Amino acid sequence: MATITSTTTEKPAPRANQARNARAEIDRHRRWAPARAALWGLLDRQLPAGARVAVLGAGNGDDLPLRQLAGRASSLTLIDLDRQALRAARRRAGWRRRRRVRVVEHEVTGGAADRIAMAALAGEEPSPPLVPEGPLPGAPYDLVVGDLLYSQLLYPALLDLGLEEARREAVLQRRGLALTGAVVARLHASAPLVLHLHDPLAWWPGHDQPADLGSILRLADGGDVAAALAEVDRGAGPWESDPRAAFAELGIDPITTAFWRWPFAAGVDYLVCATLATGSELP
Ligand SMILES: C[S@@+](CC[C@H](N)C(=O)[O-])C[C@H]1O[C@@H](n2cnc3c(N)ncnc32)[C@H](O)[C@@H]1O
Repeated sequence: MATITSTTTEKPAPRANQARNARAEIDRHRRWAPARAALWGLLDRQLPAGARVAVLGAGNGDDLPLRQLAGRASSLTLIDLDRQALRAARRRAGWRRRRRVRVVEHEVTGGAADRIAMAALAGEEPSPPLVPEGPLPGAPYDLVVGDLLYSQLLYPALLDLGLEEARREAVLQRRGLALTGAVVARLHASAPLVLHLHDPLAWWPGHDQPADLGSILRLADGGDVAAALAEVDRGAGPWESDPRAAFAELGIDPITTAFWRWPFAAGVDYLVCATLATGSELP
């Protein structure tokens, strides 16, 4: 078991995410341009002028086409647990459009991720996550984007708390899916249309990855989304942070699924799976 100190145990999930946001490499914005273009390619077809849009997990905004979004939307709300990252993201919208962009510091699990991580650190069985059920701050919106935060809800905290791999895996398998599902439910309680972005697979040198990135993208480009998803299923990735796994139970219908390469860092690629979905009741 890892050693417990007061500095490591204070809000471990926000601390872990803030540390990662602060470590973003200087050339990240340029490197992620193709991912921003792919996201806008999808949103451009779906987003009517004047829509009220929120992005949860906006972070530094490096993966977001902020100028285009702020140009199309009547209001753009960037939500994240990291206020400092949000301020930098807002600046990226350009000074003319910035007045339509507001930032909201909000930890979407309401402390549930921290409670799971702390129980795991203490060697206890984490209780099922108790996540607030209400909509996101500022709701209702016309469209909410869940921006690549699902895999970051719990895993970085477990890693930074020093839990060994087997224990991390056990905790994620036991509580990860319920945590993801509760966040998915909050997004769908906030807007009639939700775009979920998640990162099911990654490739880097020395990482044994049975699924092939090029094949997934070719299958999806050819219109065979089912085959692309089957190839994703062959891969080694964090299934417990897949928002789609919560759809059936919550009565959510996927409308469109798209994939793109996320050139995360030199030699490191992630696959982004983008799922536009409707469903669940607004309050
Ligand atoms: C991988 S980043 C997504 C990329 C980000 N949009 C960017 O371009 O910098 C995940 C983001 O989710 C945020 N996040 C993780 N857990 C969260 C939570 N429980 N509540 C709110 N935001 C969270 C992190 O702070 C981080 O900014």
